[in-house]
Amino acid sequence: MIPVIMAGGSGTRLWPLSRTQYPKQFLGLNSDLSMLQETVKRLGSVDQVCLICNEEHRFLAAEQMRVANQSCSIFLEPVGRNTAPAIALAAIDAVNKGLGGECLLVLAADHVIEDEQTFQKVIAQAEPLAKEGCLVTFGIVPTHAETGYGYIKADVRKGDDQSRDAYPVAEFVEKPDLETAQTYLDEGGYYWNSGMFMFRADRYLEELGKFRPDILEACQKAMLDTSTDMDFIRVDAEAFKACPDESVDYAVMEPLCAAEGADSVVVLPLDAGWSDVGSWTALWEIKDKDSDGNVINGDVIAHSTRNSYVMSTSRLVTTLGVDNLIVVDTPDALLVADKSKIQDVKKIVSEIKDNN
Ligand code: GDD
Ligand code: MG
Repeated sequence: MIPVIMAGGSGTRLWPLSRTQYPKQFLGLNSDLSMLQETVKRLGSVDQVCLICNEEHRFLAAEQMRVANQSCSIFLEPVGRNTAPAIALAAIDAVNKGLGGECLLVLAADHVIEDEQTFQKVIAQAEPLAKEGCLVTFGIVPTHAETGYGYIKADVRKGDDQSRDAYPVAEFVEKPDLETAQTYLDEGGYYWNSGMFMFRADRYLEELGKFRPDILEACQKAMLDTSTDMDFIRVDAEAFKACPDESVDYAVMEPLCAAEGADSVVVLPLDAGWSDVGSWTALWEIKDKDSDGNVINGDVIAHSTRNSYVMSTSRLVTTLGVDNLIVVDTPDALLVADKSKIQDVKKIVSEIKDNN
């Protein structure tokens, strides 16, 4: 099994702590280790991991792997083209090395998983299924109608016929609108897609080639001319830039599950305290809170403040008589937001980008 860690996201929803130069996967949001280092740690001991990130973050990534004492190869993308191409690079590399039949364990670099033992147990269950040719997804029991996730409908009826823990997937819907997400919750039988996958390298490329031959071809071209220095592997920049931008969820999982008679996608339920820490509110939810429901971080005095996240990285920050706020103060930017509006922090970030 080859762990493949996708670490090229921009983490804009955790602005102003997460920045273009220093996105959230490289930050320690929930422990002293960065989210990337936590991702490596929860694997137990593995010989080698394959990391895929942006050229811009190569030293951050390499240094964090060195501190974690983890041997790795690091693919550098000249531009982000989302996760379908990122995974393709790792898969093509495996095939080129004669390891096309090896399972890739595809992981996001920015998740929190509390129960590492259960995580490892479920990964071990996935491997024989992936070896047989299945594309394995890991399903989280949903707690609310969240529009930022993919939804997986398990075919429980078919699942009953087999003596294993995985269910065939009847439907995969990436990021539905709120109304649709709510009907999935009401209906039952749906899981959230955890964003982790396991499949053989050759199987991924086969399916990618069926649904997005343009992405496969661009990635194959980009891998024709690679250059290696230290742990870094650079792909052909021009060829990679020409690759369409698409996530694995839209490019492969959704169309594959919708295809007639496709039963190679399975879901393994994962109950291991998973959180994708996609926003300040999500982070507030998983953190220990004081008796007023506040998460306080840094030099902060909070009076008559409830259910809020107040963080300061340098100067003193004080709050008085407020509820349900997110306050994040950094040396050059301050965010004050209503907790329920926190997804819109993306809009602020794009406004800042537009103005620069
Ligand atoms: N190398 C590389 N290049 N990595 C990338 C890129 C890229 O261009 N874009 C994103 N990533 C990394 C991110 O750093 C993260 O670790 C992972 O890939 C997933 O990307 P996100 O951008 O965070 O995806 P998402 O959260 O919107 O959606 C995915 O995850 C959800 C669960 O957290 C989907 O798989 C959803 O279906 C899923 O529910
Ligand atoms: Mg995410």
